[in-house]
Amino acid sequence: MSAFYREKVLSVRHWTDTLFSFTATRDTGFRFQNGQFAMIGLEVEGRPLLRAYSMASANHEEALEFFSIKVADGPLTSRLQRIKEGDTILVGRKATGTLIADNLIPGKRLLLLSTGTGLAPFASLIKDPDVYEKFESIVLVHGCRQVSELAYGEEVVAKLREDELFGPLLAEKLVYYPTVTREPFRNRGRITDLITSEQLFNDIGQPPLDIAGDRIMMCGSPAMLEELRQMFQARGFVEGSHSEPGHFVIEKAFVER
Ligand code: A2P
Repeated sequence: MSAFYREKVLSVRHWTDTLFSFTATRDTGFRFQNGQFAMIGLEVEGRPLLRAYSMASANHEEALEFFSIKVADGPLTSRLQRIKEGDTILVGRKATGTLIADNLIPGKRLLLLSTGTGLAPFASLIKDPDVYEKFESIVLVHGCRQVSELAYGEEVVAKLREDELFGPLLAEKLVYYPTVTREPFRNRGRITDLITSEQLFNDIGQPPLDIAGDRIMMCGSPAMLEELRQMFQARGFVEGSHSEPGHFVIEKAFVER
């Protein structure tokens, strides 16, 4: 048995000159938990060329969805950005990752902190009814340099708000907070600064960070993840894992230089 499923690309959307998303068929045997990633890619000269990608789709959905950067000289993304409907992609059979609700101690508010394509695992998690059962409120923060980079996330959230099942759940529990660092926007600044200054909590009209009820998942820029890890640890938050749940969990977004 091959280590990969061969799936067909169903649709591709280009959001900016550096971001695109695509959907693909999903083998009925491919199981994953919302928030996990798999190795995906293309066959190049007879060999698999793969990178870790979070599923942006939820595990109850029929198709797979991914959100990717485009790097002109990136071995995989320079090719992947040219895929079209009907092309074949490889999807590793095993999904894994730490951004799952079971790795967190029960809490009241779930903060999902992301930059760039680090939004992808959270696009999956906000489509998970269990997450809405486990938490009283969910705050999805997406930080980008430019307003145009928010478009994919804005659409995921907007579509979900219109959904018959999720619409009412989102209305009751989800706060979506996009923020931009390098051009004017209604929310400005880095996620680290927005938490330290409490601006985020003031803007959304919720209480400041509290270890008793806040649980955190983060995914995105490695520099931000490191700063956030230190910031949360300094406040007593403990990093969780499969072996021991904690107050926060971290995953690096797909990065290719
Ligand atoms: P900034 O524009 O101030 O660098 P990148 O494209 O470099 O991955 O950045 C994505 C977003 O993450 C940008 O808004 C960027 O802000 C922000 N960012 C980068 N490094 C950090 C960090 N160490 N802490 C918080 N936010 C960061």
